[in-house]
Amino acid sequence: MKRFRLVSIATLLLIFSASSFGPLELYAQNPTDESLPRIVQKDGRYALFVDGAPFLILGAQVNNSSAWPAMLPKVWPTVEKLHLNTLEVPIYWEQFEPQRGRFDPSVLHTLLDQARQHHVHLVLLWFGTWKNGSGHYTPPFIKLDEAQVPHVVNAEGHKVDSLSPHSQVGLDADRAAFTELMRDLKAADPEHTVIMVQVENESGTYGSVRDFSPKAQKLFEGQVPAVLLKAMKKQPGTWRQVFGDDADEFFHAWSIAHYIGEVAAAGKAVYPLPMYVNAALRDPFHPGKPGSYDTGGPTDNVIPIWKAAAPAIDLLAPDIYMPDYARYTKVLDLYHRADNPMFVPETGNSPAYARYFFAALGHQAIGFSPFGMDTTGYVNAPIGATRIDDDALAPFALNYSIFGSMDSVVARLNFEGKLQAVSEDPAVHTRTLDFGKWKAVVSYGLPQFGNGKVAPGNTPADGEAMVAQLGPDEFLVTAVHARVDFEPADSSKQRQFVKVEEGEYQGNDWHFIRIWNGDQTDYGLNFTSASQVLRVSLATY
Ligand code: DGJ
Repeated sequence: MKRFRLVSIATLLLIFSASSFGPLELYAQNPTDESLPRIVQKDGRYALFVDGAPFLILGAQVNNSSAWPAMLPKVWPTVEKLHLNTLEVPIYWEQFEPQRGRFDPSVLHTLLDQARQHHVHLVLLWFGTWKNGSGHYTPPFIKLDEAQVPHVVNAEGHKVDSLSPHSQVGLDADRAAFTELMRDLKAADPEHTVIMVQVENESGTYGSVRDFSPKAQKLFEGQVPAVLLKAMKKQPGTWRQVFGDDADEFFHAWSIAHYIGEVAAAGKAVYPLPMYVNAALRDPFHPGKPGSYDTGGPTDNVIPIWKAAAPAIDLLAPDIYMPDYARYTKVLDLYHRADNPMFVPETGNSPAYARYFFAALGHQAIGFSPFGMDTTGYVNAPIGATRIDDDALAPFALNYSIFGSMDSVVARLNFEGKLQAVSEDPAVHTRTLDFGKWKAVVSYGLPQFGNGKVAPGNTPADGEAMVAQLGPDEFLVTAVHARVDFEPADSSKQRQFVKVEEGEYQGNDWHFIRIWNGDQTDYGLNFTSASQVLRVSLATY
């Protein structure tokens, strides 16, 4: 457990050294829960704490049918090539509870054993009542019990491929299975290999705005629950009276969120790991009509409803399969909220997506995870890469190799609000990051040598940069395919580099490699596709 030992040493360092990194009370722990992974909030920002310190998930998710033991040999080589610290893997309800009340934790245990051997954490994905809006992962005793666990019925009276959130039998069964999973996990994982759990997968319904079955209709005609009225600052009334045209969708969102909130709460009662749900998104600019997207799931328009209905869920996370800059960053804006820690649990695995790791960091993400990262032979093109080979992995592997040894340093700087990071927008070739006394200027497409003229941008737009403030005149900088330079806010002065050190963090310790000077600094700090991290001291003259 090399990696875990490293983290523990880092934790001790944080506790015993009067670090320049901030007040120790930041890391004050409940002594009984010192090592339990959890989400911590401070000053409107969030961090995922693992082993008592902020942690950055350098993640990837396997294909849907890749968590079976026979498939794992086609998973681990990719995990290593990507330099992951966390793997997201499904737990299939149909496997975990093949017959009612008979639980089989063997796959879970295999995953735990092998993750430990490969020195990575796990995020478990509970594929239960919902998987991409459908009930395909439910065990046969659920699938065949249409009378008690019915499908959603649309406005025309037709069943659609999604289970009703109004089935008490369905909820009881899902909740019981998930609780058993968390109970088993607690016993089998004292070292917290698993750091977070996703409850269901892309819940919601395609093909209907809500359930129109008689049972659902009766509830819809009833009163809006008081807790939701309070959260939405509304007066009492029926769903239609309170929410007008949004009533059908809001009712469905409340119903699904409430169901999943119950499942999560029961699981947390036995083992309180951080829990989240993932969203199949609406187009952020042209959402379309409810029913055309995964309606009732945690889409951007119903985040407040989910927050009120499912308080056991720590965060709502967008699955981002929109490669264009405007949409991607708009989605990040929509889910980066004062009441919602930012996490990208799934994103496309084609090269265009790799740079958004930096934009996610710039939105204070606790982690990032491209989907479909294994060599089982399945690819989800066109929303992902057409093949998974070393070339496809390279840009993701580069990012994680840069951040792999400084994940906790970066997570901490982000938690403290000292970090800014950007991905290249093909329409904007220079970005200025404001640090008060200093401005960091990120330019794309300039040569390493020579001042160049106007930055032309990269083709394709694959640049990315991160700048974090370590002291009044000291910054941590890394980038790919970008030039980073600094300007004093006081334009009567000019910047000079006092020292530019290349090195790498091991835990919280900085290991010096060399000083950049001459050609390497005369034209700004130019980053290629090499894994390079700099500590930069500045002054003016
Ligand atoms: C999003 C889902 O959450 C994943 O499980 C997977 O189905 C992808 N879409 C598509 O490959």
